[in-house]
Amino acid sequence: MSLQLQEWVSLKTFNTFGVDVRAQLFADAHNEQDVRAALVAAAQRELPLLVIGGGSNLLLTRDVEALVLRMASRGIRILGEDGQRVIVEAEAGEPWHPFVLWSLQQGLAGLENLSLIPGTVGAAPMQNIGAYGVELKDVFVGLTALDRQTGELREFSLVECAFAYRDSLFKREAGRWLILRVRFALSRASELHLDYGPVRQRLAEQGISAPTATDVSQAICAIRSEKLPDPAELGNAGSFFKNPLVAPELAERLRGEQAGLVAYSQADGQVKLAAGWLIERAGWKGFRDGDAGVHRLQALVLVNYGRATGQQLLGLAQRIQADVLARYGVSLEIEPNVL
Ligand code: EPU
Repeated sequence: MSLQLQEWVSLKTFNTFGVDVRAQLFADAHNEQDVRAALVAAAQRELPLLVIGGGSNLLLTRDVEALVLRMASRGIRILGEDGQRVIVEAEAGEPWHPFVLWSLQQGLAGLENLSLIPGTVGAAPMQNIGAYGVELKDVFVGLTALDRQTGELREFSLVECAFAYRDSLFKREAGRWLILRVRFALSRASELHLDYGPVRQRLAEQGISAPTATDVSQAICAIRSEKLPDPAELGNAGSFFKNPLVAPELAERLRGEQAGLVAYSQADGQVKLAAGWLIERAGWKGFRDGDAGVHRLQALVLVNYGRATGQQLLGLAQRIQADVLARYGVSLEIEPNVL
């Protein structure tokens, strides 16, 4: 079936904030052919092309005068096995968490710490998703992307993606690469990562001393569900700010001034601060202005209680940024894409 273009479509159900703006044109891409047809359609109408996955890392502040293309391609396959190592490829439109569950059902470990992250496989490399001590880059082997400038397909290796904390080449060269499918190296042996946050403790509380990858996944789903709002119930885009990296001198000064400051020293000498801690300490946790708010259990998460506009959510974010800068001298960077 050819590409189905729709005009002035509400994007409310296509962004996890649940912000009600419209797209001038909208289509689902089920395969590479649809993607190419969308590029042609957008060029013919002289509209930009905005590619979305689950819309879970997106803040829309106005109607989108673009062709919004939602990646809806499906397919997961095992490409090869080399001893314990298994290479798996998934299409960009595969929803992330069901893909994690699929891998666990196959007896494959590696993705369990990334359980319950909203979004799609194709969006995961954009910001190098990460949680509980594992980042996408730790299990990534390569991806296939379409160069929107030339129409050519290009394979990217791990190094070429230039992954960093919530960052990648694809985020830096926004609008150039359209990710079609992603490859992961998973393992038949369980090399589990249990040392981050409350994971080990949670397993111990459940009386699990020799956890499987599935046990870890279930523990992480439980931890996340306690702290992070379910977008189906309360609009949000996960962490709204990155955890800031600051110079050791600033971290040292803050340690002296702020008892209990949460700070992690990095290999390069910089110090990563827990933005949620700073925002909570500044008094914003649970704050609400109209329908835009700061989650009452996780200060790093902005929420839409119903009818908040993207402008209102962005306005709240800017107030928090200004306050944290004034109080602590720390600049908070917004994590989702703001359009
Ligand atoms: N904290 C507070 N108050 C808060 C929130 C956090 O004091 O309101 C403190 C916690 O007590 C803890 C520290 O800050 O000592 C870190 O908190 P947490 O473990 O909840 O993680 P985070 O730094 O807030 C990051 C990621 C999350 C990821 C978790 C777990 C970023 C921007 N966020 O959050 O990722 O799930 O770690 O690994 O790095 C996302 O990117 O959307 C996301 C949810």
